[in-house]
This record gives sequence, C-alpha cells and structure tokens, in this order.
Amino acid sequence: MIRAACGINGLFITLEGGEGAGKSTQSKALAAALSGQGREVVSTREPGSTPLGDRLREILLGIDSELDPLAEAMLFAAARAELVSTVIKPALDLGDFVICDRYSDSTVAYQGYARGVDLMSIGQLNQIATGGLVSDLAVLLDLPVAEGLRRSGDSDRFKSEDAAFHERVRAGYLALAEHDAERWLVVDATQPPETVTATILERVETLL
Ligand SMILES: Nc1ncnc2c1ncn2[C@@H]1O[C@H](COP(=O)(O)OP(=O)(O)OP(=O)(O)O)[C@@H](O)[C@H]1O
Ligand SMILES: [Mg+2]
Repeated sequence: MIRAACGINGLFITLEGGEGAGKSTQSKALAAALSGQGREVVSTREPGSTPLGDRLREILLGIDSELDPLAEAMLFAAARAELVSTVIKPALDLGDFVICDRYSDSTVAYQGYARGVDLMSIGQLNQIATGGLVSDLAVLLDLPVAEGLRRSGDSDRFKSEDAAFHERVRAGYLALAEHDAERWLVVDATQPPETVTATILERVETLL
C-alpha cells in the first residue's frame, strides 16, 4: 500500500458518501480553505477530471446505460487508472494537495457492498487501477439516505436505485470506516456545511 504523503508535503484527501451528502460542497470549501493557506490544491472528481473519465462518466451515470456490475466496476477502474496516472500522481509528486470527490472506496461501497461484486475482486481492481495509491484521509460524509436523496439534484443511474441499495452503500461505507479508523474521518453530514468543513480541516491539521 502506498500512502501519498511519504516524504513529501502533499496530501491526498478523498471525499466519500452517498448521494447528496455534500461531497462537492466540501470539495470546494476545502480547496478554498487550503489554497487560502498558500497550498497548491488540485481538485478532481470521479469518474471524470480527464477526457477519458468524462466520457466514461456519461456511460456510468447515464440513465439509459445497462451495465453488468463487474463491467461497471471495471469502467470505474479504467477512469481511475487514467486519473491517477495523469493527474493525481503527478500532483502528489510535486507536493500538491489533491482533493478527490469519490475514489476507490466508492467502488467498494457501490459495486461491492451495494451491487454485490465480491470484495476480493473489487480490491484487486482498485489495486491495479491505482498502483496501490490510497488516500491519506478518507472523509465519510454520513447522513440518512432519505435526506441525501432529498438534497441531491438531477437523477442519474445511481440516484434512481431504490432505498435498499442506498442503505447498503451507507452500511458499506460505515463498515470501511470502522475497519480503518486511522485513515477515515466520519462526519455527521446533517450539520451545517461550515461545521463539516471545520471538522475536516481540524483533522487535516493533524496530518501535516
Ligand atoms: N451540510 C449541509 N447541510 C445542508 N445542505 C447541504 C449541506 N451540504 C450540502 N448541502 C446542499 O445539498 C445539496 C447537495 O450537495 P452536494 O452537491 O455538495 O452533494 P454531493 O454529495 O456532491 O451530491 P452528489 O451525490 O449529487 O454529487 C446542495 O444543494 C448543497 O448546497
Ligand atoms: Mg457531487
């Protein structure tokens, strides 16, 4: 397992959680706060943030796509491989901060816990896609499923899944966080956005 912050000043922060949990909101707020401290910040989102990733995003989130769960996991992995090699790794090598709105833990929660692809295969896919690069800090923005769906905007292929699917996603994330409390920060995402940001920044400080 490669931790991003070995020997350099950069830090790799990933934002995770269900639909409408506030990932994009916190990504922007964290980038603004860290840039304000004079740090170089690269903000990315998955799937996307590369030409290939943007095209795969259309397939993966498109309401009309019918995908086999393993094929779906592999497309996420392809988008991730492109993002890691062309954006995330180069930025971390320069000592930049990287904030990613979803990363490999999303595949464990969604394609593993919720869709039922076996977790061993998901782990292998993530390992291949990232070369073993895991985030230094994974933030789980946790909130009740109904509240997240109420908050979230336009529907997509995941948002249109039933409540039981989203409950499995939530439970999967909580299991991940429980098994690796050192890397994860679980935040009650029903709190005001500013409170959530402050909690994350407090934890980031301890990692510097
Ligand atoms: N802590 C919060 N309290 C109340 N509303 C919030 C909070 N954080 C974000 N929101 C609002 O909820 C909506 C969804 O937030 P946001 O887009 O950041 O979530 P997301 O996790 O990125 O969603 P998606 O899964 O759709 O990408 C937005 O309208 C945002 O302003
Ligand atoms: Mg978002």
